[in-house]
Amino acid sequence: AEKIILDCDPGHDDAIALLLAHGDPGIELLAVTTVAGNQTLPKVTRNALSVATLAGITGVPFAAGADRPLLRAAAVAADIHGDTGLDGPELPEPAFDVVDTHAVDLIIDTVLAHEPGTVTLVPTGALTNIALAARRAPEIVERVRRVVLMGGAVHGGNLTPAAEFNIAIDPEAAEIVFGAGWEVVMVGLDLTHQALATPEVRRAIRAVGTGPARFVDELLEFFEHSYRAAQGFDAPPVHDPCAVAHVIDPTVVRTVPAPIVVETAGRYTAGMTVTDLRGPAPQGCRTHAALELDHGRFWDLVTGALARIGEP
Ligand code: BDR
Ligand code: CA
Repeated sequence: AEKIILDCDPGHDDAIALLLAHGDPGIELLAVTTVAGNQTLPKVTRNALSVATLAGITGVPFAAGADRPLLRAAAVAADIHGDTGLDGPELPEPAFDVVDTHAVDLIIDTVLAHEPGTVTLVPTGALTNIALAARRAPEIVERVRRVVLMGGAVHGGNLTPAAEFNIAIDPEAAEIVFGAGWEVVMVGLDLTHQALATPEVRRAIRAVGTGPARFVDELLEFFEHSYRAAQGFDAPPVHDPCAVAHVIDPTVVRTVPAPIVVETAGRYTAGMTVTDLRGPAPQGCRTHAALELDHGRFWDLVTGALARIGEP
């Protein structure tokens, strides 16, 4: 199994990413860390603990991290995720608490505690914690297997016409992460806008028939309304589990190598992930863009994980 640290801001799709990581046998979840983004740090952290409680995740350390971007003022996505960050379903009271370690330290300690080249970082929120970890302990950069992140886009954005939310709210952190020298896989909007939770997908999830599956269906119900109102989607794009799916099976989320840099200075384009697809990528290119999703197999992974989680 691939060892991962999930760095997230739950968030409807982050919650589903966590369930996929927990339920899929191809993933060994080493730690879960939280970062401000979809909602404030206390809210997303509580949400992560609630989802873990509902899914029966035990023995995995959870830690809270940065409560704001490196330089910019905090921004939340209440229009998409509601006031709690996870509006819609009823959430259980968390059965456990975060560890007494900052997320950045937990990330560093976890990477250093494992063999070089074995730990993959999977950020599904702003890249603040990951950038801080790379700065505080630069030796982790060559020890990490790779960074498979949800964020950015080759074309277009969602928070702004040019920039995707996770990158746009902390472009300086993203610039550090994309430029650090480790392998980075950008699972951006080009890919995640193919991961639509269609009525057929919703039926397959409900057919699992468990509490966690019902919970996911309720998340998707809320998400569908948000995305219809905010961005005109019929079925909502379920971004974050696509990054986990790439780690499980790179043929489900297919990528191409391409140079990628992050715009931090643009008046209208801050947070844009400028991706060079003009020609063949240079030898040794360490950044990759996800372009093509196998929709059926992706959702099979999600329903399979829910079936395996069962009724904890
Ligand atoms: C990203 O922004 C967040 O609202 C979602 O959780 C996802 O990580 C999509 O742009
Ligand atoms: Ca997220």
